[in-house]
Amino acid sequence: MTSLLILNGPNLNLLGTRQPDVYGVTTLPQIEADCQVKAKSLGIKLEFLQSNHEGTLIDSIQAARGVFDGIILNAGAYTHSSIALRDAIASVELPVIELHLSNIHAREDFRHHSHIAPVAIGQICGFGAHGYSLSMDAMVAHLARVGGK
Ligand code: DQA
Repeated sequence: MTSLLILNGPNLNLLGTRQPDVYGVTTLPQIEADCQVKAKSLGIKLEFLQSNHEGTLIDSIQAARGVFDGIILNAGAYTHSSIALRDAIASVELPVIELHLSNIHAREDFRHHSHIAPVAIGQICGFGAHGYSLSMDAMVAHLARVGGK
């Protein structure tokens, strides 16, 4: 059975109350519940994690090798700062989709650069909480295309 890891970085635990004009009002537990419903309908296994700590995110990416078929990563602000996260992704040889609720390209200049993008198979941003569902569809289609999953 196809299995996906959705990994959420710093401050995403605050969704719902964090800058709702930018990130919407849906909480992370609500997003996870929606993703689990979708996983069931797609017939796939899904693990959903959040951490504020760069090292924990790196540990999760390293541990995903051989366990998950793909990773959907909203790395939060580490997107723009973490070469270590980029190296972890490059090391595990798993397809990674970079995800953001907001359109990072329409925001401050410092959000325009992503360390994750060059090692991701693609990026989904700007669609709010719906981006999680879009990312799952994109990953399932990608796996079907490349791996016969
Ligand atoms: C974010 C965008 C990042 O620039 C920001 O630091 C976040 C959230 C998003 O989902 O839109 O924490 O990843």
